[in-house]
Amino acid sequence: MCGIIGVVALPGKTPYKPSEMGYRGLLRLEYRGYDSAGGASIDPFRRRIIVAKGKGKIAELERKLGLSKLPGYTLIYHTRWATHGRPSDENAHPHLDCRGEIAVVHNGIIQNYRILKEELLRKGHVFSSETDTEVIAHLIEEKYRVYRDFYRAFKEAVMEIEGSYALAVITLHEPDKIFFAKKDSPLIIGVGDGYNFVASDIPAILEYTRKAIIVHDNELGYITPSSIYLEELGRGSIDWSRRVRIIEWSIEDASKGGYPHYMLKEIHEQPRAIRDTLYGLMNEPVVVEAAKLLLDARRIYTTAAGTSYHAGLYYSLATAQLAKQPVYSFIASEYPSIADSVGEDDVLVAISQSGETIDVLMAVRAFRERGGRVIAVSNIVDSAIPRESDLAIYMRAGPEIGVAATKTFTAQTTVLAWLAIAHGEEAGVLDRSEAGELRDWLAKAPQLVAESIAANESLAIKLAEWIAGKHSMYYLSRWIGVPVAMEGALKLKEIAYIHAESYPAGESKHGPIALVENMFPVLFVIPGVDWVEKLLLGNIQEMRARGAYIIGVAAEDTGLADQLDLWFRVPCGHWILTPLTHTPPLQLLAYYTAIRRGYDPDKPRNLAKTVTVE
Ligand code: AGP
Repeated sequence: MCGIIGVVALPGKTPYKPSEMGYRGLLRLEYRGYDSAGGASIDPFRRRIIVAKGKGKIAELERKLGLSKLPGYTLIYHTRWATHGRPSDENAHPHLDCRGEIAVVHNGIIQNYRILKEELLRKGHVFSSETDTEVIAHLIEEKYRVYRDFYRAFKEAVMEIEGSYALAVITLHEPDKIFFAKKDSPLIIGVGDGYNFVASDIPAILEYTRKAIIVHDNELGYITPSSIYLEELGRGSIDWSRRVRIIEWSIEDASKGGYPHYMLKEIHEQPRAIRDTLYGLMNEPVVVEAAKLLLDARRIYTTAAGTSYHAGLYYSLATAQLAKQPVYSFIASEYPSIADSVGEDDVLVAISQSGETIDVLMAVRAFRERGGRVIAVSNIVDSAIPRESDLAIYMRAGPEIGVAATKTFTAQTTVLAWLAIAHGEEAGVLDRSEAGELRDWLAKAPQLVAESIAANESLAIKLAEWIAGKHSMYYLSRWIGVPVAMEGALKLKEIAYIHAESYPAGESKHGPIALVENMFPVLFVIPGVDWVEKLLLGNIQEMRARGAYIIGVAAEDTGLADQLDLWFRVPCGHWILTPLTHTPPLQLLAYYTAIRRGYDPDKPRNLAKTVTVE
């Protein structure tokens, strides 16, 4: 996700030049991942806003544009993780209003930006970027024309935008203030002596102050070099003095949000990643375009690698159910095995969080060479695979630093569920109310995933102590639970280095059950679906009869509770949510087992985050 830092200072009161403080803070945000960066400041002598921004790395932009040498004492900086609009100089933040009197940086997604932009264009505003963020600058400008009171204009604009945001705004109208607002995206205030900060998170300010105020949702206000104003929308001003925290973390710890590893942080980030992904999908025309493409397809294929392949398996099962269409799912490196079946009217859904996996890219190229059309699902805007596809639908999980995929898997399955619903609706298999009900279930996912994580972390820690001593484990399920079981097995293999195998539970009696002996761990992913539970009962009993230790991931209303030796309880929900509610306990189990065995979950041996060589 994007990174923000703003600093406002009294002349002569700062340890460094304010622009150096902002620049050094910006460097501390690099770990969050970005494709472009920039800064803006108020030039006190010439009473204008100076903007320096572009696509590329911060060090390169420093050489070209002198980010650390901007004039003045009121500055905002930004690292951009593209969500709306490809990485480019024009789309980099900060963004200005028409008159160049307001500059905005933003982390999050403005869900209603299209409607707001159309209205502003009708009023004559001229835009210079494809971003949702630029709408905010023009909206404030429009409000200022009415109220002639900047904070009032800022507040009115904030109340009109929908979605997630952490905002920092500077203006010539009040040159010694930085205005801020927060909803769903992180924002803090750094309390200095003769200077104050707003920032996305703590690493950006630690070099200058350890005093921070965590801004809460629906709070907004402004900072000056010597004062802070904070209020809650609709409830008035807040006494912030009791909320000042002294940060004890090191900068390294702080970039992990206080978590010991990025992987654990990213497991816990899943509710927000899913929520931002859903914000990005609502009113996104490309989803309907993709659904129409799928509807007209002769055959539908999906391809990916690793975790993303598991998301693709889920997609094929969901599409078969919701659009009554078969989807052929193949591992990208196995493309040659299906090449001769591909023809002009075929459609491929290519899934890759990095958008750079070479196996997938080669499959996409080969598929298109045969006249097929490609829909990419990725987490990185304008990466190689989306660039070479006909359509691209993006998750908005933010950068995933841990090598093991966690939040990108649940974000991928959120996108794929949304696509399968749109396809079912286009195909006339789902009527509006059925599609609406399924989307309502997805809208509940952020909360349900948070509950799944909270309910199972301590149990995962406890079970990990035992699993850490095991050499092998089965992850079984049926139907929509199988891709989740496969994902759980991959996690245990890739970060705890324990052999884990996953297959559809009905296969046990065709061979694998020969491996089972006393206390052999067998984990069952149990989707909340009656016919699946009835079949899994038999599979559980055949394992138990051979002495297996039965671990279950199941909702509170499961009928199999008495069959389980250990039960990861997940929230009740719809089968479409299975990868979202049932995967977190498996991620936590793998993470804590790796820790128990003394391994670094962020940097598993032999693995790279993105496989760009064949
Ligand atoms: C998953 O934990 C692994 N990091 C790996 O299997 C990964 O999912 C695979 O390499 C695909 O990556 P992609 O989604 O970026 O294409």
